[in-house]
Amino acid sequence: MTRAKIIGVGAYAPKRILTNADLEKMVQTSDAWIVQRTGIRERRIADEGETTSDLAVRAAQQALERANLTPDDVEFIVVGTTSADMQFPSTANYVQHKLGCRNVGSVDVWAACTGSIYSLSIGSQFVQTGKYRRVLVIGAETLSRITDYTDRGTCILLADAAGAAVLEASDDGRGVIDADLYSDARYWELLYMSGGGSKYPACHETVDKRMHYARMRGNELFKVAVRMFVDCSSKLLARHGLGVSDVDLFVPHQANLRIIEAAVKRLDIPMSRVFVNVDRYGNTGAASVYVALEEAAAAGRLKPGDLVLMAAFGGGVTWGAALVRW
Ligand code: UT7
Repeated sequence: MTRAKIIGVGAYAPKRILTNADLEKMVQTSDAWIVQRTGIRERRIADEGETTSDLAVRAAQQALERANLTPDDVEFIVVGTTSADMQFPSTANYVQHKLGCRNVGSVDVWAACTGSIYSLSIGSQFVQTGKYRRVLVIGAETLSRITDYTDRGTCILLADAAGAAVLEASDDGRGVIDADLYSDARYWELLYMSGGGSKYPACHETVDKRMHYARMRGNELFKVAVRMFVDCSSKLLARHGLGVSDVDLFVPHQANLRIIEAAVKRLDIPMSRVFVNVDRYGNTGAASVYVALEEAAAAGRLKPGDLVLMAAFGGGVTWGAALVRW
């Protein structure tokens, strides 16, 4: 059976660091509050002029190098993002051009923070069906561009980064086993950005009302998020006759340490088998799972044959989980 094997991962985070101490000077907050409620200590912020596709390209180049491939080998590109360079062309289109890929299709997936699982799943379908042999999947965000730095509920969380994975058709049993994707817009008001689309086209009023920034009802989203993490992860494992004891590493979306801890407690996965880097990057949306995968691999926490469970949730709301034989 053909699977989409992950043959290279890469990540890139902008150099500029925004610490909790920096945020103390910008909004009414404290390092102690942020660490206690979120686990975040610092996050990366893109430089002026540095776009989502710029970050994506850096991550993709590293993933391709590690896979011993060149941009010419890529047949399709999927980018998960909620902070695209422009309304169109898509960020994936820019990535294709900046990487120098020729004769490839490319598409953005707008699934908020679940863009990681969505892009991985969509990319792997092309490989599994035999349509393409090599697909580049990316999660990339410059969430700082849609963050209101007067809103302490969101500005302490959101940040910028990109991560990428190269998928290649393989028959050795390794690769994406399965992924489940969900969405339910009954909850859209928990996290959204209303300005700039067909409902509220950009105008002076949308700017005056600060509608071009992400808005969140954090506490409500927190509860929904824990439920979804647990639900989609257990369903996916059960369908494959697997239990949490079979999982070698759980790589969750890095939104908030407390959400991760609450979810793994209910799933009964010990923290020693959970990868966490939210303390250094904050919430990087669709990039977070890919960035975590790259760091886990670099730290030697992923060995060939390991069973990796990933799960994410985000605005929409959207959520999903993926199972990978590393
Ligand atoms: O990728 C998906 C994206 N989003 C998320 O995953 C976010 C999910 N939610 C969260 O991470 C958490 O809900 C937050 C970190 C956003 C907030 O933590 P919380 O424990 O849910 O706090 P809360 O919203 O219930 O607020 C508790 C108190 C409030 O004050 P009062 O009403 O008790 O006096 C807030 O006004 O904390 C206050 N507060 C803050 N205080 C200091 C809210 N934000 C801050 C802040 N600094 N940054």
